[in-house]
Amino acid sequence: MNNNKAYVTTPIYYVNDVPHIGHAYTTIIADTMARYYRLQGKETFFLTGTDEHGQKIEEAAKSRGRSPQEYADEISGKFRELWDYFDISYDKFIRTTDADHKLGVQKAFEKMFEKGDIYKGEYEGYYCVSCETFFTETQLMDGEGCPDCGKPTKLVKEESYFFRLSNYQEKLLKWYNEDERCVLPKGKKNEVISFVKQGLRDLSITRTSFDWGIKLPASLNDEKHVMYVWLDALLNYITALGYGKEEENMHFWPATMQLVGKDILRFHAIYWPAFLMSLDLPLPKHVGAHGWWTRNGEKMSKSKGNVVNPKEVADAYGLENFRYFMLREVPFGQDGDFSQKALIDRINSDLGNEFGNLLNRIIGMSGKYSDFKITSQDVKALHVKELNEVEAILNEVETKLNELQTNRYLEDLWKVLAIANGAITAHEPWTKIKNGDTKGALALVGLVANILARVSILVSPIMPQTAKKIANAMQFEITTQSYEKYILNKELLEDFVIEKIPPLFPKIEEELMETPEPTLKQEEPKEKKKETPTKEESIITIDQFFQTSLKIGTILEATEVANSDRLLQLKVDLGESEPRQIIAGIKEYYAPQELINTQVCVVANLKPAKIMGLLSQGMLLAAKDKDGLALMRPEKPKTSGSSVG
Ligand code: MSP
Repeated sequence: MNNNKAYVTTPIYYVNDVPHIGHAYTTIIADTMARYYRLQGKETFFLTGTDEHGQKIEEAAKSRGRSPQEYADEISGKFRELWDYFDISYDKFIRTTDADHKLGVQKAFEKMFEKGDIYKGEYEGYYCVSCETFFTETQLMDGEGCPDCGKPTKLVKEESYFFRLSNYQEKLLKWYNEDERCVLPKGKKNEVISFVKQGLRDLSITRTSFDWGIKLPASLNDEKHVMYVWLDALLNYITALGYGKEEENMHFWPATMQLVGKDILRFHAIYWPAFLMSLDLPLPKHVGAHGWWTRNGEKMSKSKGNVVNPKEVADAYGLENFRYFMLREVPFGQDGDFSQKALIDRINSDLGNEFGNLLNRIIGMSGKYSDFKITSQDVKALHVKELNEVEAILNEVETKLNELQTNRYLEDLWKVLAIANGAITAHEPWTKIKNGDTKGALALVGLVANILARVSILVSPIMPQTAKKIANAMQFEITTQSYEKYILNKELLEDFVIEKIPPLFPKIEEELMETPEPTLKQEEPKEKKKETPTKEESIITIDQFFQTSLKIGTILEATEVANSDRLLQLKVDLGESEPRQIIAGIKEYYAPQELINTQVCVVANLKPAKIMGLLSQGMLLAAKDKDGLALMRPEKPKTSGSSVG
């Protein structure tokens, strides 16, 4: 394989249902890998699409009074629309009803037949329409249920063509044995090996009991058969490259990375390589199987009404935050539970406090010390220790992504961010400035900027727009050249003037968590929970309004709360005998000294509360939008304690 090319695939999605979080997960990992290969300068082809034939789709269309083609057109469109909305960087969107695909599948069938790998016989066994899979009686659950999905199977007895899968057992075992990383992660590979060792039976690859599939090649002159949907579907990975026709993109084969869910690994790690061997084509470099997303520990299903709609999540919390969450939260290959709270925690803590805040700190420090000018001039001389620590992590980090361990990849990048945050605390640039050591303070800012630049480049496959915003603010671009320069060659940034941009990850307040969790609208359970009115909906009387005591306060003192990225401790004069202590979550937006002697609007009759162990005797009013937060202040100075209303 040419190392300078990469081919990434997602499974092609069944069109019996609209996209959900599981589909988004596979697609987002694949998109990340495609973007990573492009960043490395590889000529990359990224394929996704829809799987449109088979009994399941035929039945789904029929139950809605539609033709299978009409129905497939509609749902396939929904997948494509979602991937476009999600900015998925696919190069081709294949549909198995495309004429070129059908032709390619027939060509492949002919070749396998001529080779003697296909013969005609009779199939008798059990079939699960939902999984489009054949089973023997001994494999069934309680004598009837599908061992994979639990739904009832059907006994079928029909004439069928078979693929001599049994002939490939030893060759497959040899492949697993010789190619250490052909199936990722390792645990999943071992499951495949034990399955194959139990013995492979020949595979039925045509059906006669329904119509909605690709016909056999004309040369076989056997009209009553259509192809088994999995043979048709798996071949998409080569027909998309032009197999059986112009072959214009076959130079991308073999695939670098084929992403699948654990439920369809058997098809991709056993049938698919066997078909490829029969076609005399090389085998994929890696087939990666991820786990399943559950909801509060339960499998998602329409009947339970707990299916998470990826678009709603992305709309509510930001697409890139969602991408980060999915890839960070779960070790690749394991199941993961989707919870809004976990997502919010990741956004506020990992993204806001540890990543975005670093940019704010660089902007803040450089603004104060050097009119936003940043230099790498003394970084090597003064910070070799930190640079070495960073490089030690970065030298190893890409192996993790290459093995699809996205969570460990991100974990390590965050360790690099921690080196930067730690350096600020340890070196106290503000003290250096006070003591006249401008050179020391600027070198520290330069170090932090270089660390942020490197992390941004490496995080760009996962959060491309965020990385781009940081790079733009720091006057460089995320390209293969910058990857080579700053990551591979470890060069430092040229001197630049940083642009002051608003915080990248505004804090998500807890109150958002009270909104209903994102699920598919049309799939909400019949029995709706009692709805809590939204803010706009609750009407109050004037008396209720005046139960709130709003007062003008003057801030006398403002200090940072230790160990908090969010909180400031304020002393506010409300015209009472003593100023009140108010703990406010505004540190991201206001420096303590700029608040002193300014006026604010305070909710004065709130029950006092302890925040991080400190008593808070009121709340400041503020407005917040995507550009940040602004305190509500009187238009003209007013006496402290004046009431508002
Ligand atoms: N059409 C076949 C694939 C053919 S590929 C030649 C198919 N389609 S599917 O739409 O049912 O599933 C596509 C992918 O979505 C699978 O990889 C599957 O694992 C994934 N997911 C479906 N539900 C999922 C979760 N709840 N969680 C994570 N991924 C899951 O199978």
